[in-house]
Amino acid sequence: MSDKSKPLVYVGMSADLVHPGHLNILREARKLGRVVVGLLTDQAIASYKRLPHMTFEQRKEVVENLKGVDEVVGQETLDYVPNLRLIRPDYVVHGDDWRQGVQKQTRQRVIEALAEWGGELVEVPYTPDISSTQLNKSVKCFGITPGQRLGSLRRLIDAKPMVRLMEAHNGLTGLIVENLFEQQEGRRLEFDGMWLSSLTDSTAKGKPDIEAVDVTSRMRTLSDIVEVTTKPILYDADTGGRPEQFAFTVRTLERFGVSGAVIEDKIGAKRNSLFGAGVGQVQASLEEMADKIQVGNRAKITSTFMIIARIESLILEQGQEDALRRAHAYIDAGADGIMIHSRQKTVDEIAAFCAEYRKFKKRVPLVAVPSSYNSVYDHELQEMGVDVVIYANHLLRSAYPAMLDTARSILLNGRSKEADDSLLSIKDILTLIPEGDWL
Ligand code: SPV
Ligand code: MG
Repeated sequence: MSDKSKPLVYVGMSADLVHPGHLNILREARKLGRVVVGLLTDQAIASYKRLPHMTFEQRKEVVENLKGVDEVVGQETLDYVPNLRLIRPDYVVHGDDWRQGVQKQTRQRVIEALAEWGGELVEVPYTPDISSTQLNKSVKCFGITPGQRLGSLRRLIDAKPMVRLMEAHNGLTGLIVENLFEQQEGRRLEFDGMWLSSLTDSTAKGKPDIEAVDVTSRMRTLSDIVEVTTKPILYDADTGGRPEQFAFTVRTLERFGVSGAVIEDKIGAKRNSLFGAGVGQVQASLEEMADKIQVGNRAKITSTFMIIARIESLILEQGQEDALRRAHAYIDAGADGIMIHSRQKTVDEIAAFCAEYRKFKKRVPLVAVPSSYNSVYDHELQEMGVDVVIYANHLLRSAYPAMLDTARSILLNGRSKEADDSLLSIKDILTLIPEGDWL
């Protein structure tokens, strides 16, 4: 039985993969008094590292049932101070591993806050031979179920101020998006997921971006990516085809664990948006597009799959008014997100759209694709109210010139030695994809 007259002990944790290290901390905390666990929310965790495998509710259920835990409260920031000032615990208990690394400053702020009411920080020696980082690696090797992956884009949009997607057009580019990370100012930087671009998928197959690569063939690319990655995937569905075809695409994507499909409001012969007006592209009527969104929604077998309506009004020079009118209508038709596209060199027309969009009473996540207006930083788009930013074609655009240079060098020199410096070594390519444990 818990006793409210006992000293209060606060333990902050993510508790995604609970291991004996956590239990040890709780055991020590219990000796000091009544244990309140500050369970970090998805938002708090995503502010400095990858989203946890389990949702907040799942983690809460686990922690509530751990021996010695008297109460679980949400901790909404990595910073403990807001919760500590509310709860004013007598003790904070934490593993001593936070003296170094990302959490060093968090620790310092805890010490300063506790000093305000004479509280004390108790540090428990780090439990050797077990770490969340190692467990995380192992969990990644098991892979992910389609259902978990499907829901992860919405979770990320909820948890992060901005979600960043990078295009992938085969297993290898999928692995780059999956595995690349950098540490910057104590935060882990990585792409949140993949954009399955129609432009790069078509180009990689040597075909133009005119829906000539059919859905079955696109699904083969998708399958290759799904096999070797775990991050969420957003699928570029072009026009979606006829509504009844789109319904099948939605179901196929859901089976693959794809998080959403983007359909653009065009009809007939689709050309890439970056060509703009004047190449015979026709915008769908507002009603046609609304109908397709509704058909897609009825076809869904999950509630989390996202149908994102892509507005081509700025691309086709129909003006802001038209773009905004369509955004309202598509949201009313049930779109789970809006993508606004532009082919201007500057961000101005996107900024103007965002300023009006922010005033909408009913809003859904907003997606932008800064291919032509590439001097804008993603944090600037975030400040404008963009929720998802897509780098739509950059891996393929960087690979092609490199491949061409190598082919040219070998052709001109009659041997490959001159190209060596720009190549992956033979040893490195042999070990680039480890056998069996490829993630
Ligand atoms: C794609 O990546 O295929 C897109 C985005 O549709 S864009 O090429 O900018 O139109
Ligand atoms: Mg496309």
